[in-house]
Amino acid sequence: MDRIRIVGGHRLEGEIAISGAKNAALPLMIASLLTEEPLELENVPLLADVEQLIRILGNHGVDYTLTGRRAAACAKAAAYARTMRFEAAEIVNTIAPYDLVSRMRAGFWVIGPLLARMGEAEVSLPGGCAIGTRPVDFILDGLRALGAELAIESGYVHAGAPHGLRGAAYDFPKITVGGTHVMLMAASLAEGETVLTNAAAEPEVVNLAQCLQAMGAQISGAGTRTICIKGVKKLHGAKVKVIPDRIEAGTYAFAVAATGGNVLLRGAEARHLPAVLEALRQTGTQISEEADGLRISRAMAHLQPVNIETAAYPGFPTDLQAQFMGLMTRADGVSHITETIFENRFMHVQELARLGAQISLSGQTAEVRGVAELKGAQVMATDLRASVSLVIAGLMAEGETIVSRVYHLDRGFERLEEKLAACGAEIERLRG
Ligand code: EPZ
Repeated sequence: MDRIRIVGGHRLEGEIAISGAKNAALPLMIASLLTEEPLELENVPLLADVEQLIRILGNHGVDYTLTGRRAAACAKAAAYARTMRFEAAEIVNTIAPYDLVSRMRAGFWVIGPLLARMGEAEVSLPGGCAIGTRPVDFILDGLRALGAELAIESGYVHAGAPHGLRGAAYDFPKITVGGTHVMLMAASLAEGETVLTNAAAEPEVVNLAQCLQAMGAQISGAGTRTICIKGVKKLHGAKVKVIPDRIEAGTYAFAVAATGGNVLLRGAEARHLPAVLEALRQTGTQISEEADGLRISRAMAHLQPVNIETAAYPGFPTDLQAQFMGLMTRADGVSHITETIFENRFMHVQELARLGAQISLSGQTAEVRGVAELKGAQVMATDLRASVSLVIAGLMAEGETIVSRVYHLDRGFERLEEKLAACGAEIERLRG
């Protein structure tokens, strides 16, 4: 199993190209199930989760092709971006088996388009995962509201809508990104109008709505808490661009704040990161918006401690909580970090402690006492975002840090060690 070796203490200077967003690419890929025509997606990141979803879609009969590099795209940020074409001319199988879905929770979302297009789906329940129980009850309630008949047997959801789905009003009891994605896709092919209230407003939801609109769907209000969808009989092919990854951008912004330095995050969008940039400014880090991205810089002055609480967009994202905690381990004082979205997203605490961080947990809040120095150690990645919090801490630590189980990191960060090394970090992948 690969590991990552870091020797801390180097400032970051230069440029990092932000990849396409994993959490936008996945629902867009799933939307290809809604039409027999090809859906072309630009700026798809090459990640383990994207590859896993290709397998899941392939099982339903979706073909995909990958476009090679184009001369025009060889300039910096676009150099690694991929254009992928997905074509679900014929859905040959409406079963999403446990073996495939259990490896990636987003695989469960195929239930929406399969049901809408084929009138049936049999999808394995995704089960819990390291960061919490992650139920799908609101997804199922929403589909029931659209007229789906659902039964749960032997770990599978058997869903049927023999006469098609019908538009309806559905109020999400709690904001859910995946629930909003599924309902958007299902309602796009339902008969009549659907009104979703308390919907997720994440940029990834807006990206999916734009994709569906480009495919012929009638959607208004995406990006707000109320979304209206007027169902259409058929959707068609389209060409859509995946938005830049705001979580990757936030992670590298924290890395620059951690080490000091000056880096242009090429392609990053400030409007996707309101709460994150506000917290970062409060630490004493400079942020400036430039035509082609965000410039992050920090002189080696002390890092101010900042309290954050995770929340649905536009709040502070849970997917950046671990990384921010990594940064706060060296702040000049005490900060409080509260997780409100997932019940078990503090597994990085123990690992950060191995580097000398002082963190105590009380319920859903971590109290982080900034220390003057972290010392390199062997640590273990426990989930995707936790893994990069260890990288951030490793970049600040004195001496060598070895992060093991980096397959977690590969699910969501494209060429992380390459991008950081190009800015002066001493970081490498140890293979095997
Ligand atoms: C998405 O997961 C992201 N995944 C997660 O990113 C992200 O942490 C999360 O949204 C929150 O922003 C993808 O986009 C692929 P939710 P999702 O439904 O949609 C509860 C990463 O690191 N809930 O918004 O599964 C749920 O338990 C990953 O890239 C129900 O109770 O999250 C949680 O407490 C991790 N019932 C809250 O809602 C439901 O039916 C929000 O979850 C659905 C959700």
